[in-house]
Amino acid sequence: MKAATKTLIERLDGLAPQTALVLGSGLGALASQVTGAIRIPYGDLEGFPAGGVSGHAGEVVAGHIGHAQVILLSGRVHYYEHGNAAAMRLPIECLADIGVKKLVLTNSAGSLREDMPPGSVMLITDHINWSGMNPLIGEPGDRRFVGMTNAYDADMMDRARGVARRQDIALHEGIYMWFSGPSFETPAEIRMARQLGADAVGMSTVPEVILARFAGLDVAAFSVITNFGAGMTGAELSHEETKEMAPKGGERLGRLIAVMLQENRP
Ligand code: HPA
Repeated sequence: MKAATKTLIERLDGLAPQTALVLGSGLGALASQVTGAIRIPYGDLEGFPAGGVSGHAGEVVAGHIGHAQVILLSGRVHYYEHGNAAAMRLPIECLADIGVKKLVLTNSAGSLREDMPPGSVMLITDHINWSGMNPLIGEPGDRRFVGMTNAYDADMMDRARGVARRQDIALHEGIYMWFSGPSFETPAEIRMARQLGADAVGMSTVPEVILARFAGLDVAAFSVITNFGAGMTGAELSHEETKEMAPKGGERLGRLIAVMLQENRP
């Protein structure tokens, strides 16, 4: 057993969440909804990534949201930090080791659609991996040929739609295109992304979806829109804007995810 898995099991003290969440930039507030929170800094978990990006805390938070048990990864490592697309492999595999079945990924993203302004929440229904990278490069054996036809779980997407409808939460849907970052896109790249069928652009999530499917987890993913894509308004983009805008849509996304968890309790 991996050392980090062993530590997690010890520290969770009998808690056995079936759903895990990865919190994106500026979306850390979701962790404050967790009651009876057990907090484990990534530094205590061997092989978990040391953080680095402002807005990312780097800790595991486990406990309850309502009656549902949940485990959150607050803080992710991005490909652009060290050029390692598999940076989140060990944490995701540890989640699978402790019995997690469903992974909900969140991120902040740029919108490519005029009708999806900053503050919007988008259900990711599919993605385009524009980075050319893959976290499974170098993985031996046939298991590496992971099917991506149903990467985003139909059942979880339906549940998200149902909750959004009943809670009167506006939920957009679309295709997320992964750019490596850390520089933002150019206006020409944004025009290209729109022509290729993307609805939002961002610098994360896709490698984690691939790793989660490799680990046998069902996946749902949501973007909080923090800005329009480069060139769509003439404004320069910045990480400050991402951090400032993310909590606005993040509050709504938090409510949606909380109700999803409630309705799915064992
Ligand atoms: N591009 C890439 N990543 C992002 C953006 C964007 O416009 N906004 C938030 N994350």
